[in-house]
Amino acid sequence: MAHIDRTFPSLDHDAIQALRGRSMLSTNDYSRANLDALSAVANAFTALDGAAVKTPLFPQELAWALFFDKSTRTKSAWAGASSRLGMQPVIVDGGTTQVSHGETAEETGAMIGMNSHAMGIRHCKILGQGRPFIADNTKGIDDYLAAMGDPRTVPMVNLQCDWDHPTQSMADLLWLQEYFGGSIRNKKIAVSWAYSPSYAKPLSVSQGLITLLTRFGAHVTLAHPEGYPLYEEAMDLAEKHSVESGGSFRYVDNMDAAFEGADVVYPKSWGPVDLMVGRQDAKGEAEMDDIERRAVERNARFRDWICDERRMGITNDALYMHCLPADIGDEVTHGVMDKFRVECAREANYKMYVMMGLIASAKQDGLGEILEKYWNDR
Ligand code: CP
Repeated sequence: MAHIDRTFPSLDHDAIQALRGRSMLSTNDYSRANLDALSAVANAFTALDGAAVKTPLFPQELAWALFFDKSTRTKSAWAGASSRLGMQPVIVDGGTTQVSHGETAEETGAMIGMNSHAMGIRHCKILGQGRPFIADNTKGIDDYLAAMGDPRTVPMVNLQCDWDHPTQSMADLLWLQEYFGGSIRNKKIAVSWAYSPSYAKPLSVSQGLITLLTRFGAHVTLAHPEGYPLYEEAMDLAEKHSVESGGSFRYVDNMDAAFEGADVVYPKSWGPVDLMVGRQDAKGEAEMDDIERRAVERNARFRDWICDERRMGITNDALYMHCLPADIGDEVTHGVMDKFRVECAREANYKMYVMMGLIASAKQDGLGEILEKYWNDR
């Protein structure tokens, strides 16, 4: 079998053990030491997979994922991660559960969690709903297991909520660390709004990026037009993290200012908050469609917010990033995307190893020693 040579990271066993029992709802719930330990585990799985070493830590266990919104990469990463850990992946459309018939998030968590060994949820489109849904679901599982005296750990992985997309931002971080030889300290990173005609996208990727990358000493510039603010909570965290890490965080209202001298550009769209909050109370498809139409009309006022060759030309020979799917021709030109297609795929591929790291570190005692043994025995 063909191998991809990767360096196996040094592992801090105690720091990895400290992740036992954890669920990841947001990277902001993890300390910097937790994030470093998780990164090391994800990099270990990357190296092992590259060397074609099998890691079936949890045979015949069930990895259940519930998707209330569309996905290509995250679904595929969940299936790839759980099967590489020896688990059986199950991916269910959230719309086919009894949630729409009044079953609460907590009840859903208990009912699904009683039979599962790991859970993931995507619930990202409706502002104000996804984050509490995933938190309540986690509580439902944890309370059920505690009430039953069941010693199983059933970690929850946020597969994107309205607030954060932690497996995406962690994948982005790991890719950036690889690209820059280990550290993003002092790198200038532009996280910019870009025009999209397709739909009013969640805020969570950009919020996840500004709150995570500022923890690693990067100089992060956020750019968006008027009317497209991120949550104040995310802005405040990004500011706080940048002070703590020795990086910086600033907001500008034009794309060129963010791109000038940047080492990395991450231009992607999100919807106008004042319209998107209306999704919470929308009664039926017609009202949702109307909100969507108005949001996309608003986006169209800013068609010139595109990542094109001219803008790439004012960067410091920047790496282009996108969580994908990108609106090619609108968020980014065909030429720029073509140039960075492989890099974007490498960025996306880290998500599977982040998920493996989250599930395994939450469930497995002595994980550091086990991963080293896999590597040494290869
Ligand atoms: N970037 C990302 O989360 O992709 P999907 O929506 O396809 O899962």
